[in-house]
Amino acid sequence: TVDPSLAPTPSQSSLNLQLLELKARGRYGSVWKAQLPEQYVAVKIFPLQDKQSWMAELDIYNLPQMKHDNILRFIASEKKEDNLTTELWLITEFHEKGSLCDFLKSNTITWAQLCHIGQTMTRGLAYLHDEIPSPNHLQAKPAIAHRDFKSKNVLLKQDLTACIADFGLALKFEPGKGFNETHPQLSSFDPNPFSCSQVGTRRYMAPEVLEGAICFNRDSFLRIDMYACGLIIWELMTRCTSIEGSMEEYRLPFEAEVGLQPTLEEMQTLVVTQKVRPALKLSWQKHPGLSKLIATVEECWDQDAEARLSAGCVLERLGQLSRSVNS
Ligand code: ADE
Repeated sequence: TVDPSLAPTPSQSSLNLQLLELKARGRYGSVWKAQLPEQYVAVKIFPLQDKQSWMAELDIYNLPQMKHDNILRFIASEKKEDNLTTELWLITEFHEKGSLCDFLKSNTITWAQLCHIGQTMTRGLAYLHDEIPSPNHLQAKPAIAHRDFKSKNVLLKQDLTACIADFGLALKFEPGKGFNETHPQLSSFDPNPFSCSQVGTRRYMAPEVLEGAICFNRDSFLRIDMYACGLIIWELMTRCTSIEGSMEEYRLPFEAEVGLQPTLEEMQTLVVTQKVRPALKLSWQKHPGLSKLIATVEECWDQDAEARLSAGCVLERLGQLSRSVNS
């Protein structure tokens, strides 16, 4: 008989996994829908030259307490070698609806759906940002900044519950380690520790990032995520059907102002110099929920980083709003 405890586990062996369909091409490699015997999974394939990114993302998924309903669930990693090429695989749960960005392109949402997506997304972000202490430190979860928060990196489950994905640029802040409690532990996988300030997607960069401020501590990185969070909630509002008036096609934040391929200079002029933010529609003032949500969004994308709301606070406000406004 075979001792079941000796059965190979996914991380030690070749998985019985079949790639089905290319879903997306990202900053690093590509994402496939794939089939395990019991379930569909997503496989993110990194070419060998992007080993740093694969390691950096694994490093985050392997932290304690990273299992959360609103964080994309990690399943396994694999180094796939055949005669000629090496590929690095990162296997996670698969969500058929795909990213929030893609969903909003082809769907509108009700006020109740806006509240659900908004709350589950900010619950995931608040969890990521929070430090969870543990008596022996072995199970302690450090605070984590995402650093590339955007609607493409929020995935939707079947019931429109959001989960946060893509931790390739994330930074962890472990208390009591490193030279300063509030500075990031630059991962040994980071190829250039001085490149850590201006990363992410231009369109979603906070003014202080666009400006090229060089020294960020933990709280400044979390506030940079909150600026992007404000932009994503605005994206949700633009697709909400609970208001009268015409609904225009989905547009990314600042797409109306700078189009689809803005340069860094264009984003700097718009967001830093002119202090422009995405347009808030007059018709939102007539909806009891959307009109109050405007204030929250404006407190997320405030020019003054220190004035921005925390993810926990946005979560609480969305909860109050969804309970008090039913339509
Ligand atoms: N696109 C990127 N990651 C995905 C995932 N896990 N499920 C579905 N679509 C994705």
